[in-house]
Amino acid sequence: MQYADLLIEQHGKVAVIRLNRPKAMNALNDNMMNELGDALHKFDADPAVNVIVLTGSEKVFAAGADIAAMANYTYAVDTYPGNYIGRNWEHILNIRKPVIGVVSGYCLGGGCELAMMCDFLIAADSAKFGQPEIKVGVTPGAGGTQRLPRAIGKAKAMDLLLTTRMIDAAEAERTGLVSRVYPAESVMEEALKVAQGIADMPVSVAMQIKDCVNQAYQMPLTEAVRYERRYFHAGFGTPAQKEGMSAFLEKRQPNFEGL
Ligand code: CAA
Repeated sequence: MQYADLLIEQHGKVAVIRLNRPKAMNALNDNMMNELGDALHKFDADPAVNVIVLTGSEKVFAAGADIAAMANYTYAVDTYPGNYIGRNWEHILNIRKPVIGVVSGYCLGGGCELAMMCDFLIAADSAKFGQPEIKVGVTPGAGGTQRLPRAIGKAKAMDLLLTTRMIDAAEAERTGLVSRVYPAESVMEEALKVAQGIADMPVSVAMQIKDCVNQAYQMPLTEAVRYERRYFHAGFGTPAQKEGMSAFLEKRQPNFEGL
């Protein structure tokens, strides 16, 4: 897979997608978002891939939507009829396999919004998160005002959104925006270990867990628990359950290859 604005690597069953516009701080433009959608959907459909990692460079995950590209956009043509953001930023929300975001350096505006669309985030100690859109005269447009309060609470979210303050990796971990922090030098190695660990689990169950957790934000609790229970019951008709439980009783490691 060759792209102009992405770099692709594969480590066993883990596919790594790297945002790659170094001269523009990985600012997210149409081409990059089209390519990202293409790569995500290809890996989601590839039986050799169980987990996808989305990352940037050591310096920057992404510094937001491409301000140079959108500065002259108009409401009448480009944003509303053209469905800016909606047209190609949200492919990631339709990916069924786990997507782990790995953030080093700046993760701002649309970059932070894209990161928050990942299933969970692992940060380098160099990471800096913020939503500075107000400073360029707009509201966030890819879910920042919605996913940030859900992730870190209203007070912190309002603070970041209204003041443009950036938070570092430690504060991001403390507030629940990221799940783990590692030194910048080793973050990718550690993240790949995490991804590989998930990739060794049954991919079908990983997909079901992801689906269930996402229902927590859409459904009332009783309905969502019923939704989860259906997957749990159905699990007893799958080879993954037979292998997992037999391996436990036989005191050996399970082998979920192909499950
Ligand atoms: N769009 C386009 N180009 C960008 C960019 C962006 N979001 N962020 C950085 N760049 C470009 C700069 O213009 C600069 O290009 P030139 O070398 O051609 O001048 C290059 O990347 C390097 O940037 P800086 O010189 O500014 O680097 P720095 O180290 O001094 O600062 C930074 C880094 C703090 C990330 C700073 O670049 C910055 O504040 N960027 C903008 C952040 C921002 O406002 N993001 C929100 C965008 S709006 C949005 O995302 C809408 C939405 O919700 C969907």
